[in-house]
Amino acid sequence: MKSLLGAPSPALLAALLAIPQTASAFYLPGVAPTSYKPGDNVPLFVNSVKPAAASQDALLHSVMSYDYYHDRFHFCKPKDPNGPKYVSESLGSILFGDRIMTSPFELHMAKNETCKPLCEADYERTSAHFVNKRIMQGYALNWLVDGLPAGQQSIDAATQTPYESQGFQLGSVDPTAQDPKPNFNNHYDISIEYHEVGSNPNQLRVVGVTVDPWSWDYAGGNPDCTDNHAPVILAEDGKTKVQFTYSVYWTKSPTAWATRWDKYLQVFDPKIHWFSLVNSAVIVVFLVVTVASVLFRALRKDITRYNRLDQINLDDLSGTSALEDGVQEDSGWKLVHGDVFRTPSHPLLLSVFLGSGAQLFVMTGFTICFALLGFLSPSNRGSLGTMLVLLFTVLGFVGGYTSARVYKSLNGEKWKLNIGLTPVLVPGIVFGTFFFLNLFLWANEAAGAVPFTTMLIIVGIWFLISVPLSFAGSWFGFRATPVEPPVRTNQIPRQIPPATTYLKPIPSMLLVGIPAFGAIFVELFFILRSIWFSRIYYMFGFLFLCYGLMIITCAAVTVLMVYFLLCSENYHWQWRSFLAAGMTAGYVFLYALIYLVSKLSLGGLSGTVLYIGYSALLSFLFFILTGSIGFFSSWWFVQKIYASIKID
Ligand SMILES: *[C@@H]1O[C@H](CO)[C@@H](O)[C@H](O)[C@H]1NC(C)=O
Repeated sequence: MKSLLGAPSPALLAALLAIPQTASAFYLPGVAPTSYKPGDNVPLFVNSVKPAAASQDALLHSVMSYDYYHDRFHFCKPKDPNGPKYVSESLGSILFGDRIMTSPFELHMAKNETCKPLCEADYERTSAHFVNKRIMQGYALNWLVDGLPAGQQSIDAATQTPYESQGFQLGSVDPTAQDPKPNFNNHYDISIEYHEVGSNPNQLRVVGVTVDPWSWDYAGGNPDCTDNHAPVILAEDGKTKVQFTYSVYWTKSPTAWATRWDKYLQVFDPKIHWFSLVNSAVIVVFLVVTVASVLFRALRKDITRYNRLDQINLDDLSGTSALEDGVQEDSGWKLVHGDVFRTPSHPLLLSVFLGSGAQLFVMTGFTICFALLGFLSPSNRGSLGTMLVLLFTVLGFVGGYTSARVYKSLNGEKWKLNIGLTPVLVPGIVFGTFFFLNLFLWANEAAGAVPFTTMLIIVGIWFLISVPLSFAGSWFGFRATPVEPPVRTNQIPRQIPPATTYLKPIPSMLLVGIPAFGAIFVELFFILRSIWFSRIYYMFGFLFLCYGLMIITCAAVTVLMVYFLLCSENYHWQWRSFLAAGMTAGYVFLYALIYLVSKLSLGGLSGTVLYIGYSALLSFLFFILTGSIGFFSSWWFVQKIYASIKID
């Protein structure tokens, strides 16, 4: 965090936003420090084998992860006759593809050990082919020592700063060789840093783990762990015997336990962040101020004119006034007062979407606040996923309430269908897609696949908690007084004159989506990177600001569009505002596709299907979220302006 705080001008803000620092001040249950005595056994757990990019700028070649003990890898298993055991994990970390298990490595605190033999394994043809392919795709092993991921020292190509990558390479390919063959790593140099608490030699804590993997072909001889061996190359046309070995080196470190995560987080230059954030903040503030002042002035003029016209009409009882047929006829949004609160088409679908949108809105708000308070520190594995699932479940109440109340306000009549669909439609689409994508993972025997039992648990939570809560919310929503429109709706709908080009549905959607997308797209890059490159995302302060900016922009631009729409005597603002604001998600999806082309190189169908599927799923949720923001701000706006004019 030093470099973040070191940025001179926004130092104060930076101090407010320096989340990991506050994060490390919390000792959450499960992440309290463990102290060891010299010689104590320090556990080394293995996590799934995940794809990684060779450097910060390299392409990622796969998005699937595999179980560490997948048969084809032939990694050494613990001596325990029952084999490797699962280490208990949170729901969130299972959903995010973690599979943490015990390992045969024996680490003793502060005791150096060199060249310990582990086991021997035979790689027959299929395994050799499988492993070689994973090496070519840049897969990395992920170990955890005392909860800390074992990294490999790497240099960031862009900023030339060393950083600690998560995981270390399964193997390597020498690009300078004539006929490049994948070298398989069979020796691990495990370097562990430990910290003495208060200079007490009996209170030692693990504060850093790096692994340097080597490929040494001992050729059947005694493993001696020296550098003068040829690399291990797994033959794809026969059997290869591989001897696994490891060494452990312990060094004392001044790093305190509370800051042991910092080096994983120092992955990029936060100045880029500041620059773009200030940039988008300036644009957003400028935009919102412009929109607000233009709109405010126009509205004030309109309203005084309308109300003066009323006055003149009342005074001039002859009724032949030129004003009445001349000026008032073509005077904009007042003309549609008898239609603006007409029930839109498909009110059921709209209200169900809005219910889920409100649910998502509150969920994201809570999540970001919890993150700001440091509850989602990376040491708390899977806390983000767990929190999202739990919050969405509990907030079913909000969804039901909003959906019911909106539906009632829109004069909907199929209230039973509304109650039933609200907790089922959007979560059902999400779960259905998720399940479908999981089939791909299952088919590939990938570890990222969520186990069937976890699926059942999620369905159980959904039906036992979320659905009843949503029903309760709906009950309250239908009992609450509906939002009353300030003006009466006429019997006969008005004709809508043809629209100018930019107010046509598609162009207006495209225009409205851009500014809101602009507010978040820099953060989006980091979010995508943390999803696909398994980098830790921790800039929740930035995320909070960007999210706030996005909400404001989204609302402001949608309101502006609705104003123009009403001025052009088009009163179909309900779906239009929802869809136009939701277009932000369209841009997010487009961005994800560009990211796919520029940063990933997923040979093969399943990888691409998975990537596009997950991106579409996230974009869909984002569509519901931003659409709801657009709708509710427009609703508020329409209520306000029509309440401020007199209608006879
Ligand atoms: C263990 O190895 C490290 C790294 O080689 C060295 O700095 C340290 O002094 C060694 N510790 C002992 C107790 O030999």
